[in-house]
Amino acid sequence: MTGTVREALSSGRKRISMTAGANQGAQAQGAESGGFTAVVLAAGKGTRMRSDRPKVLHALANRSMLGHVLVAVQEAGASRLAVVVEPGRDEVVREIERLAPGASVHPQAERLGTAHAVLAARAALEAGRDVVVAFGDTPLVTAETFARLRAPLREGAAVAVLAFEAVDPTGYGRVLTESGRVLAIREEKDASQEERAVRLSNAGLMALSGAHALSLLERIGNDNANREYYLTDAVALAVADGLSVAVVPVDEWEAQGVNDRVQLGHAEATIQARLRRAAQLGGATLIAPETVFLSVDTVLGRDVVVEPHCVFGPGVVVGDGCTIRAFSHLHDARLMQGADIGPHVRLRGGAVLEAGVHLGNFVEIKNATLHAGAKASHLTYLGDAEVGAGANIGAGTITCNYDGVSKHRTTIGAGAFIGSNSALVAPVSVGAGALVGAGSVITRDVPGDALAVARGRQLTREGAAKALRETLKAAKAAKAAKAARAGEPD
Ligand code: UD1
Ligand code: MG
Repeated sequence: MTGTVREALSSGRKRISMTAGANQGAQAQGAESGGFTAVVLAAGKGTRMRSDRPKVLHALANRSMLGHVLVAVQEAGASRLAVVVEPGRDEVVREIERLAPGASVHPQAERLGTAHAVLAARAALEAGRDVVVAFGDTPLVTAETFARLRAPLREGAAVAVLAFEAVDPTGYGRVLTESGRVLAIREEKDASQEERAVRLSNAGLMALSGAHALSLLERIGNDNANREYYLTDAVALAVADGLSVAVVPVDEWEAQGVNDRVQLGHAEATIQARLRRAAQLGGATLIAPETVFLSVDTVLGRDVVVEPHCVFGPGVVVGDGCTIRAFSHLHDARLMQGADIGPHVRLRGGAVLEAGVHLGNFVEIKNATLHAGAKASHLTYLGDAEVGAGANIGAGTITCNYDGVSKHRTTIGAGAFIGSNSALVAPVSVGAGALVGAGSVITRDVPGDALAVARGRQLTREGAAKALRETLKAAKAAKAAKAARAGEPD
C-alpha cells in the first residue's frame, strides 16, 4: 500500500482521553510565551523486552521510561502534550494521567511508521504551534536537549533534527549533507553502500515549525523498503520546498533508545550516574557513589552521608545532616535532621524518623513515627507504631502488629524503655517513662512510669546443676559398661 499518512489515518482517529481544562489554560499561556506541542510516540510493541508489560512502562530509577520523557518535555516548556499509544493499553493511559494530567492520548490503531504515529495526534497539532517529537523509549533525553532541539525553529528553520556521530551507525537513519547543508535522512534499509558509510546519525527526535509541520507531515508517503511512513522524510520535503533544516548535536549515549533489557540496564546506569551527581552537587557525600541506588524523587539534604551499598526506593526524603550507614534499604520514608541509621536498616512505607533518631543494625520500620531522639539500636521491628521522643527500644523488640487478619497499632510514650527481646502485642500502649522488663510479652496497656514484666518467674536451686550433671554422667558410664559386657564372648 502506498499513499499519504493522512489517507492511512482517515479510518479510526479517535481521542480516548482528554482532560482539557488545565491543558487549555496552559495552551493559551503557551501561545503567548511561545510554547510548543510535544508529541510523544509510545505505540511500540517492545517485543524484544520479552515482557507482559508495555515497553514504555519499564522503569528507570523507579519512574517509567515514558514518565521520564513526559517530565522532560514538560520541563522544556511544552504547552501541550500529546501521546500516541497502542490501543487498549490502559496501563499506559493511567501513567500518562498520573504524570501529565493535561495530556491528550491518541491511539494508533496500526503501526505504520513514525510519521503516521505523529499524525495520529493530528488533533493536537492543529493549533499551528511548533511540534517537538519525542520517543517514549528514548528516556535519557534531557529537558535542556529538547529545548535546544526546538531553538533553531525560532531562527527560521522549518525542521530541526537531533543527530550524533555514531561510533557504529548501523541501524540508524543517516543524516545526508552536502557542503554542510542537510539534504535528507536515509533509513538504513533504503541507504546505498555509500550512504551507509555516513556516520552522522539521526537520533529520531525532531522539531517542526508550526508554520510547516502539518503540510510536511501530510505529504510524507510510504514508498520505501519498509512501506512505512517515515517522519525522517520531512527533511527531504522541507529541503525541496526551499526551507532550512538544522542539525542539533547530541551525545550518542543521551539519544540511546531502549529495546531490550540490556539497553534498559545501560539506561539505568546513566540515570543513576546523573542522580548521584545531582545528590553530590547538592551537598550529600556518597562514599562509594557507584554502589548507591537512587530513585528519581530521592531528596538528600545538606551534609547527608550515605555509606556504600544503600538503596533508595521511591518517596524518600532525607533531612540535613543525616547518616545512612552501609547496606540500608529505604522506601517511602522521611528522615529529619541528624537521624543516624544503619548499617542494615530497612525503612518501609510510612516510616518517619524525627530529628536525631538513631537506628542500629537489623532494624526494620514500617508505617511508624519515631519522635525526636528515639533509639532502636539492634534487631528490631516496629510496624504500625508511634514511639515517643527519647524512648529506648531494646535489642530484639518486636511489635506484633498483625493478628493474621488485621493490623493494629502500638504506642510507646516518650522516654519509655523497652527491655530486650520484648514482644508488644498490638493493639497496646506503653506509657511515657514506663519500663518493660526484658523478654516480656506485653498484651495489656502499661501506664506511664509503670514497670511491666511479663515472662516466666525465675527459679534458682543452689547446686542443682552440679547434681544433675553427676546423675547424667553416672547414667552414661553405666550404659557404656553394659555395652562392653554385651560385646564379650561367652
Ligand atoms: C527511528 C528513525 C531513525 C533513527 C532512529 C533512532 C524514523 C523513520 N527513523 O528509527 O532515523 O535513527 O529512530 O533510534 O523515524 N512508533 C510508534 N508508531 C509507529 C512507529 C514507531 O509509536 O508506527 C514509536 C516507537 O514505539 C518508538 C519510536 O516511535 O518509540 C521510534 O520508532 P522505531 O520503530 O524505534 O524507529 P527506528 O526504526 O528506531
Ligand atoms: Mg528505535
